[in-house]
Amino acid sequence: MRSLVTGGAGFIGSHLVEHLLSQGDQVIVLDDLSTGNLENLSFVRDNPRFKLVIGTILDPAVVLECVSQCDRVYHLAAAVGVKLIVEDPLASLRTNIHGTENVLMVCAETGATLLLASTSEIYGKNESDSLSEDADRILGSPLKSRWSYAAAKGIDEAFAHAYWTRYGLPVSIVRLFNTVGPRQKGRYGMVVPNLVGQALRGDPLTVFGDGRQTRCFSSVTDIVPAIVQIAESTAAYGKAYNLGGADEISILELAELVIHETGSTSNIQLVPYENAYGDGYEDMRRRVPDNTLAHELIGFVPRTRIDEMVRMVAQSLTTAVDRDDWTMTQARPAHRSIIGAH
Ligand SMILES: NC(=O)c1ccc[n+]([C@@H]2O[C@H](COP(=O)([O-])OP(=O)(O)OC[C@H]3O[C@@H](n4cnc5c(N)ncnc54)[C@H](O)[C@@H]3O)[C@@H](O)[C@H]2O)c1
Repeated sequence: MRSLVTGGAGFIGSHLVEHLLSQGDQVIVLDDLSTGNLENLSFVRDNPRFKLVIGTILDPAVVLECVSQCDRVYHLAAAVGVKLIVEDPLASLRTNIHGTENVLMVCAETGATLLLASTSEIYGKNESDSLSEDADRILGSPLKSRWSYAAAKGIDEAFAHAYWTRYGLPVSIVRLFNTVGPRQKGRYGMVVPNLVGQALRGDPLTVFGDGRQTRCFSSVTDIVPAIVQIAESTAAYGKAYNLGGADEISILELAELVIHETGSTSNIQLVPYENAYGDGYEDMRRRVPDNTLAHELIGFVPRTRIDEMVRMVAQSLTTAVDRDDWTMTQARPAHRSIIGAH
């Protein structure tokens, strides 16, 4: 199988690339390195079946060049992270809507099958006990930048579904809930690496609001194989599948767990949302997935416990990264460059 991973230099994408190479695929990564980086791909760079194209999904010619060499596309490239979205909503909207439409159009043109990475954010403020794929979406005002990510990903899904019904594009959608693991960065507002980084540095752990908001975290090691299995299933075309963690935990409990697992002497500081994200910021109190559809399709069960995830993240943040020439020389702003052989 020849696979393209857009956003393959990012957190989830780089794990997906490793997984696909390990099962024998030829893999092209298309990434503009905006939030991803070359270090994430240092484990695969010498694989002769791997090629990296530094470029943007906003450029249809680059997308066409990459997709036309592949049978299957995993579309993960996106502007991700609450902080990034709130700080630059316009760029985020462009990437997440226009970029995705470019990918859809080119897949429809070339006949490649497509797996679209969507998000539990699309459910917005729906705080049901268990969110199934047809649950209602409850979003705040479109004038609040915070909701632009959910709005854009919702449009992506609608676009994908329309390409399936209109052109028969074989596309399936995964709605990822909070996914955690090595290589995830805290700087764009991801809570687990943020808290673990603070604990390791001995800084106060900053918990937003009252800390009683809950989430269900899942490990990238459980999610990546499930993404591939869904992409491989023809029964998934035209449908969306939740992929989320099993255990609900409050952010305050998470902070306490992080302190315990890292042996940190840090304390916990409650910070009003406005201090971090400006006035009028809204968050959802809870978000719990119903994974039934993915379980029925591929037997998906999230197995990794949150304490194991915290230890993995801590280990990844403390491991010195092998910054060698490849990383340093290629990390220049390049419009388009190609690294790799196949
Ligand atoms: N991490 C999570 O908890 C989570 C939850 C729900 C959904 N998702 C989805 O999973 C996907 C991957 O997220 P992630 O957590 O790995 O984030 P990430 O920021 O690590 O990865 C996104 C990648 O896309 C690249 N990118 C951004 N704009 C691009 C562009 N215009 N052209 C080419 N590449 C571009 C970035 O450089 C980065 O490598 C995203 O689609 C995201 O919406 C992630």
